[in-house]
Amino acid sequence: LFIEPDEGFLACNTVGKGRLKEPAEIVEYMVDLLSYQKDLEGINVLVTAGPTIEPIDPVRYITNHSSGKMGYEIARAAKKRGAKVTLVSGQTSLTKITGIDTVYVKTAQDMYNAVMENYKTSDIIVKSAAVADFTPENVSVNKIKKENDELVIKLKKTKDILSELGKLKGEKQVLVGFAMETENLVENAKAKLYGKNLDMIVANNLNDEGAGFRVDTNKVVILTKDEELDLPLMEKERLAHIILDNAKKILNSKKG
Ligand code: CTP
Repeated sequence: LFIEPDEGFLACNTVGKGRLKEPAEIVEYMVDLLSYQKDLEGINVLVTAGPTIEPIDPVRYITNHSSGKMGYEIARAAKKRGAKVTLVSGQTSLTKITGIDTVYVKTAQDMYNAVMENYKTSDIIVKSAAVADFTPENVSVNKIKKENDELVIKLKKTKDILSELGKLKGEKQVLVGFAMETENLVENAKAKLYGKNLDMIVANNLNDEGAGFRVDTNKVVILTKDEELDLPLMEKERLAHIILDNAKKILNSKKG
C-alpha cells in the first residue's frame, strides 16, 4: 500500500514532493482499495472522451454537446479495478482523475495524433469521444467580419479514428466503439461494428429519455459479434463497469 505524496510548498521552505495528500483523496483511495476487485491489474486501457473543437477563426468554432461523462466514468472505473489508464480528453468541465495519464486535445486531428501515439501498448481501447465528423477546410487567421449577408464555410471530413484503429489493431487488442443514433439503433450500430472492425459497440438512442449527452445516466444496447445486450436505464458509473466487464471477457477469449 503506497500513496504518493503531493508536490508543492513544503514546511522546510522548499518546493518539492512531500506534501500530505488531500484527506478526500486518501479516503477515495482507501474506499477504492476496499471496494473494488483489482481484476484489471496489468491491463492497459486507453479511453477517449468528450467533444472535439474545430476552429473557424480565432473566435468561433464547431463542436457538439458531449460532456465527456461516459468516457471519464470508464477511465475512473478502469483505474479503480487496477488498470493502467490513459485518457485522451477533449475540452470538458470535468476534473482531472488522479492516478491516470490524461492527454488534453482540442481538434479531431489532435485526438487522432494522441490516439496513434498511445494505442499500440493498449489492451483495451474505448472510443467514447464525440469526434467532429467535419472540420473547416480553412481556418481564418483573422476574425471573420460580418460584411456580407451570407457566410459559407466549407467543411472537409476528419479522419475516422475508430475506423483507422479497426484496420491497425493487433489480434489481442479489444476495440470498443460508441454509436449515437436517432433511428434504427441496432441496425446502424451493427453496421458500424462490422464496418469499422470493432469487437464491441455501445449504442444509444439520443431520443431515449435519460440517454446521451450531459446526463448522469445512459440507456444502451451493447453489441458484440455474438451477443446483443439490451440494458435498462442506469447510472453511467454502473454502465462503465459493465462495458469493462464485457471488454475483459473478449480480451480473455482473445488471449485464450
Ligand atoms: N469516431 C471517430 N472518429 C471520427 C468520428 C467518429 O473515432 N472522426 C468514433 C466515435 O468516437 C465513436 C464512433 O466513431 O466511437 C461512432 O461515432 P458516430 O458519430 O456515432 O458515427 P459515425 O461513424 O461518425 O457515423 P454517422 O455520423 O454517419 O452516424
